[in-house]
Amino acid sequence: MKTQYQHTSVLRQEVLDFAPESTQTILDCTLGGGGHSLSLLEKFPKASLYGIDRDPFSIEAAAQRLQAFKQQTRLIHAGFSELSAIGNKWGKPQFDYVIADIGVSSEQLARPERGFSFINDGPLDMRMDPDHQTLTAGQLVNKASEHELLKILRNYGEERYARKIVSTILDERRKKTFRTTLELAELVNKVIPQRMKKRGINPATKTFQALRIAVNNELQELTELLEQAPSLLKPQGRMAVISFHSLEDRIVKHQFRKWEHPCVCPTDLPYCICGKISLGRVLTRRQVNASKDEIAKNPRSRSAHLRVFAFDKTTA
Ligand SMILES: C[S@@+](CC[C@H](N)C(=O)[O-])C[C@H]1O[C@@H](n2cnc3c(N)ncnc32)[C@H](O)[C@@H]1O
Repeated sequence: MKTQYQHTSVLRQEVLDFAPESTQTILDCTLGGGGHSLSLLEKFPKASLYGIDRDPFSIEAAAQRLQAFKQQTRLIHAGFSELSAIGNKWGKPQFDYVIADIGVSSEQLARPERGFSFINDGPLDMRMDPDHQTLTAGQLVNKASEHELLKILRNYGEERYARKIVSTILDERRKKTFRTTLELAELVNKVIPQRMKKRGINPATKTFQALRIAVNNELQELTELLEQAPSLLKPQGRMAVISFHSLEDRIVKHQFRKWEHPCVCPTDLPYCICGKISLGRVLTRRQVNASKDEIAKNPRSRSAHLRVFAFDKTTA
């Protein structure tokens, strides 16, 4: 296996700029190739860094990248939903800065055998954690009901041609089993009308995104990460989340807003009776996007949105 991990971290400088001054403990929930972790450790060379990733290959790559900081890093192969349990294993550290750069890494996309790519042929897999996940994209494409496939393509891909794609899949699978990513990508390419295709965007993008989200239960994982976050952070800690599509960004935006304004009292009530106290404030009124310069160097950063929440639990 090659050791070079192909991934350029997005919004790297912005992630550093939002870190609390004199950060001592960092949690990187999406180690990937360890890029964000490394920059944070270079900025805070005395900090302890704890990291997880659901992809076992990422843990190896990040450990190599962070070799110089080996004494102060603890990396574990785990998903967001396991964070509380992992925190107990680590001795319940409280963090100054929690970062999550969610989604798929360039490395995962670049390895055809992982099945995320609609450019290079590979098995229809898409599992981020092949050691523990059993459901693959192939199983969904070949076995899921029409209703379920439609729901996936519409809800997770916002795919306008969901019905046509699904009915063509259903027709085709009466004759054969879908085995590879290119078989599916070619089918989508045939179904989407020529005039609706955008230059530089593969017509299968939304279908692949939708299947990937379903296979990895990504929105539920993100929701669970956000549920656990307040208990993981120090009273004045900060959480930074980078998302790559509107479904994730919406979840983050709403959760941050709820942390800031948790009151559920009717608006015409003169004072609060629900007793819910604000956990802090949103530092990014609008999502932070990559600069033109960054997009020119790394086109993937075009879809990255950063949001940051500053906890202030001293009054809570
Ligand atoms: C965009 S990459 C992170 C890149 C990293 N920030 C860097 O600079 O190298 C996203 C990573 O998040 C991981 N990931 C996605 N969902 C996850 C989850 N629910 N739990 C843990 N890791 C997850 C993926 O396996 C992938 O390695």
